[in-house]
Amino acid sequence: MKVQFIQQDSWVLPGEYLAWAERHGYDVTVTKCWQYESIPKNTEADMLVVLGGYQCPATTKEECGYLDAEQEQNLIRRYVEAGRMVVGVCLGAQLVGEALGAPYAHSPEREIGPVEARLTADGKADPFFAAFGDRFLAGEWHNDMPGLTEDSIIIAESDGCPRQIVRYGKYVYGFQTHMEFTHEIVAAGIEDVGGRLNCAGQFVQTEEQLLAFDYSEMNALLSSFLDAMVEEYRREHCVTVSQVMEKMIAFSDGDIHDIDHLIRVWAYAKAIGDLEGLDADTQYILEVAAITHDIACPLCREKYGNTNGKHQEEEGTLLVRTFLSDCGMCAEQIDRVAYLVGHHHTFSGIDGIDYQILIEADYIANATENGYSRENVIYFMNKNMKTASGKRIAKTVFCL
Ligand SMILES: [Fe+2]
Repeated sequence: MKVQFIQQDSWVLPGEYLAWAERHGYDVTVTKCWQYESIPKNTEADMLVVLGGYQCPATTKEECGYLDAEQEQNLIRRYVEAGRMVVGVCLGAQLVGEALGAPYAHSPEREIGPVEARLTADGKADPFFAAFGDRFLAGEWHNDMPGLTEDSIIIAESDGCPRQIVRYGKYVYGFQTHMEFTHEIVAAGIEDVGGRLNCAGQFVQTEEQLLAFDYSEMNALLSSFLDAMVEEYRREHCVTVSQVMEKMIAFSDGDIHDIDHLIRVWAYAKAIGDLEGLDADTQYILEVAAITHDIACPLCREKYGNTNGKHQEEEGTLLVRTFLSDCGMCAEQIDRVAYLVGHHHTFSGIDGIDYQILIEADYIANATENGYSRENVIYFMNKNMKTASGKRIAKTVFCL
């Protein structure tokens, strides 16, 4: 999965947004506006995160030479139109609202530091916020708040600001709150304003309070929101296993042996995966890998005159990437399927349950198709089979 960050200022760091993306191994691009990097035109990432800054959407080029609010709004609109995930933070949230036709507004109160925020009834009904509870502590540093479009929904509010989190679309959110705050970010913010906040108010905390606060809990909440959104986005955007099957049958071009084999490996893999209780993501990867595992067989027959395992693994890794490139799967998923296809004849270094089950399913299918000896089956079962369900199925199939 790819995440595109727009970072306005050097000190307004992405914090937990970036840490979350890095923990997942996502492909991250950061456009640094303060270094006059131009706003990308393409929408090749799955998620756009527009961060905050000291400016507001009305800030002119004369006031801040590197903020191009118009280009940022164009980019936000392109991502929204493409159905991708968009998260705006503080100024970024206000820009999301502006991009969708809702002018930003002044917050009734200035808030600096953690404040207690509440989920609205709509917020409680939004499954992405299931971990937030009714009340949560939210990081703040703002005077303004995002505008509301006709169909936007307020997810969270506080006593000082009625628009802490706004949903503009299924995957489009504006966070006025800084749930990404870390000690490093608030320290950099305090330094940027010369060491003292020079303002007071009911919802303004002291520098000492800001620096002493432990932000890890709000970071965890943000992370849970991002995970939930990504999971739903993936579920909606990936092709189904049946669609991969249909595509692979077409790819096999009438070769009944190849088609029958892939269907049998898939059926065994699906059953073992289900019986072993795999999570939905791993089961999906396993089934896609099972369907496509022998994708290189036709090519190998033509190129090498045989379907030797090593050639298949090498050629298959590349072929399956191309095969899946228009399937809506994220890079992380394609990488894993390509890895499995590229290792399905390698019985050492098995690094996951999906890999293990693919090996077992492929062996059961091969042994039945090619009439492997009883000794061969017993040897393989003892040496290479690890799952209880795979062993049970193999025992029954081979009458052991
Ligand atoms: Fe196979």
